[in-house]
Amino acid sequence: MRQQKLQELLKEMTLEEKIGQLIQVTGKVLKNEENTVTGPIENLDLSNEMLNKVGSILNVVGSQNVRKLQQQYLSKSRLKIPLLFMADIINGYRTVFPIPIAQGCSWDLQNIHIATRVSIQEANVAGTNVNFSPMVDLVRDARWGRVMESMGGEDPYLGEVYAKTMVQAYQGKDISKMGNAVACVKHFAGYGAVEGGRDYNTVDMSERELRQYYLPAYREAIEQGAEMIMTSFNIINGVPVSVNQWLLKDVLRKELGFKGVIISDYSAIAETVNHGVCKDKKESAYKAIMAGVDIDMMSDVYANYLKELVQEGKVPEEIIDQSVWRVLTLKNKLGLFENPYGNTNKEMEEKILRSKQNLQVARETASDTLVLLKNEKQTLPLNKNNKIALIGPYGDNIAILGSWSMFSDKAKIQTLKEVLEEKIGKENVLYARGSEILRQKEINQILIAEGENPILIEKEEQKEKEAIQEAIKVAKQADVIVLAIGEHYKQSGEACSRANIEISIPQQNLLKELTKCNKKIITVLFNGRPLALKEIAEKTDALVEVWFPGTEGANAIADVLFGEVNPSGKLTMSFPQATGQCPIYYNHYHTGRPHNKNIRFVSRYQDIPTESYYPFGYGLSYCNFEYSNLRISSHKISKTNPITVSVNVKNHSEISGKEVIQLYIQDVVASVVRPVKELKGFKKVYFKPFEEKVVTFEITLDLLKFWNERLEYEIESGEFRAFIGPNSRDTKQISFYLE
Ligand code: GLC
Repeated sequence: MRQQKLQELLKEMTLEEKIGQLIQVTGKVLKNEENTVTGPIENLDLSNEMLNKVGSILNVVGSQNVRKLQQQYLSKSRLKIPLLFMADIINGYRTVFPIPIAQGCSWDLQNIHIATRVSIQEANVAGTNVNFSPMVDLVRDARWGRVMESMGGEDPYLGEVYAKTMVQAYQGKDISKMGNAVACVKHFAGYGAVEGGRDYNTVDMSERELRQYYLPAYREAIEQGAEMIMTSFNIINGVPVSVNQWLLKDVLRKELGFKGVIISDYSAIAETVNHGVCKDKKESAYKAIMAGVDIDMMSDVYANYLKELVQEGKVPEEIIDQSVWRVLTLKNKLGLFENPYGNTNKEMEEKILRSKQNLQVARETASDTLVLLKNEKQTLPLNKNNKIALIGPYGDNIAILGSWSMFSDKAKIQTLKEVLEEKIGKENVLYARGSEILRQKEINQILIAEGENPILIEKEEQKEKEAIQEAIKVAKQADVIVLAIGEHYKQSGEACSRANIEISIPQQNLLKELTKCNKKIITVLFNGRPLALKEIAEKTDALVEVWFPGTEGANAIADVLFGEVNPSGKLTMSFPQATGQCPIYYNHYHTGRPHNKNIRFVSRYQDIPTESYYPFGYGLSYCNFEYSNLRISSHKISKTNPITVSVNVKNHSEISGKEVIQLYIQDVVASVVRPVKELKGFKKVYFKPFEEKVVTFEITLDLLKFWNERLEYEIESGEFRAFIGPNSRDTKQISFYLE
């Protein structure tokens, strides 16, 4: 539709019709069958009249379902302004990919691009116009359940690179084309820094911290043309983001130049009353619209109070018009006025959802994300002639998709047991469950929070003992033990904060008993966050972090266990020594009293080391890579003289493999404290057997900028150090100077 016609349409709209465009409800509210609820629905108070006018719908999917709803809606709509369908396609629609934190560990932009394309192609033909992804929140605290949704993990540079990859992959060049959709970047901003890792909790940080670490990924996403941004639940500088004028107007709109639609998170506007910054819902509606939030997701405050506020002259109608204009513009860019059914397409759904080709992409993506954390005496890869004892609650379990996999077809997931049996024959895979993931008491707490009835606990101790005995019996008959344990899939994701991030007691007991069998133990870990793994790691010979690997996860794990794929994943979040170390991140500041175990009054813990258990960037390969001859093109850098650092990397093995070579930089002295090192580049490089390569990085002045004492983004002269290595800890270093 032409701009002019769109303007005419806006002029023709009544105030109620305009307000309708600024409201989003879930399908459940409209009694739609095929949808999932992702937050509270109890407190919503919407009249039928308003429901007939809402502008967008949340988490209704399926081409036929979407078409039906659109048709019903339009038949009642005076001006025939189509609905916008938004959904959470976080790591796949029917074909489920590894959870985002896992995908991030691949450091493989091409694979991530391809996987993201598959996700959005599947979702788009099934009716999704806007995807609530990517989440680009920087995360440092593994207690927070939502770290599983962050691709960039604890690193702002990775966050930027992934934000760019994802937005490009979702939106393509034209958001109206089949297979593309709007990227809604979330949760703006600072949501990853909730105190104590407790979801929805307070965030308090300096403006420098916000700008230096938390905003870069958003800036990048906006530069890539992301059309929508979701506000976060938390406060920034004392004010909840959904009513925070400084953050939304001064920073997001003016400074970052965002012109698209701002949507609140689920019922976040109404929740500002609970925060205690609005006396009632009416005030929250006032503050949110004045701060520039265009769409109210799942609270009734815009629906019930905006009209009154305009009629009382408190909210100028132009403010409403501006928000409505942004929503109409987006619908127009999607081509919905010409074709309200968008790219919904039943034949395409049948053809591409979970197609052979898509499953293959899922398998490749998944094997790329596994992180080999330990491999003593080359326990892995496994020999196909081995008899395997597959033990543990994830050995024969389909719940390996992660918490945002609500649109997948779970019935079609293969378990690790099935895949191993296919690979080496049923007779060579002996299976025992060995333990439950959680004790019933813990499961019951989850069930109660979900409004379900708790399950009666009976003879649990005895059952645990019997399960272990059975596992030992099985283990004794095998050559090697593959132990598949981890977190329950309901222990990570939204509202899944944990105060103790160790593996559960029954699983720890199981491992302890298995060590007595004197067999090699390979632990395969399913989880959505870094865990405190010390106890587990020390008791196993090999340890593979597989996260929640998605639809083809079991195949991908088998590929890696048998060496058909050489693991190349590297951690994007530090793994702590103990939960008490959280938040822990590699790019921390210098303290005035750096750690030294021989001195008492220094910054350290008495009971555990200061450094992480597995550092950021860490991950092993079946190859043995050697780094040597770090060199620099010049020790002096200037505007006219960008420099390069190079290193030789040699594969000392007779197999090929990939290695993520990482560049870090440190600003040695500056006007404000600078981190000990910061990732500034990486390359994922393929090596043939025994191949040696020279890997070179360019260092430009841009990489040296930071938010200085006066909160300007500048460079300061002096000494810098460049580090190159296979992870953030084991690096070689060289100095250079800026005059
Ligand atoms: C939530 C989440 C957000 C999600 C939204 C819609 O509560 O915080 O990430 O996109 O609901 O489901």
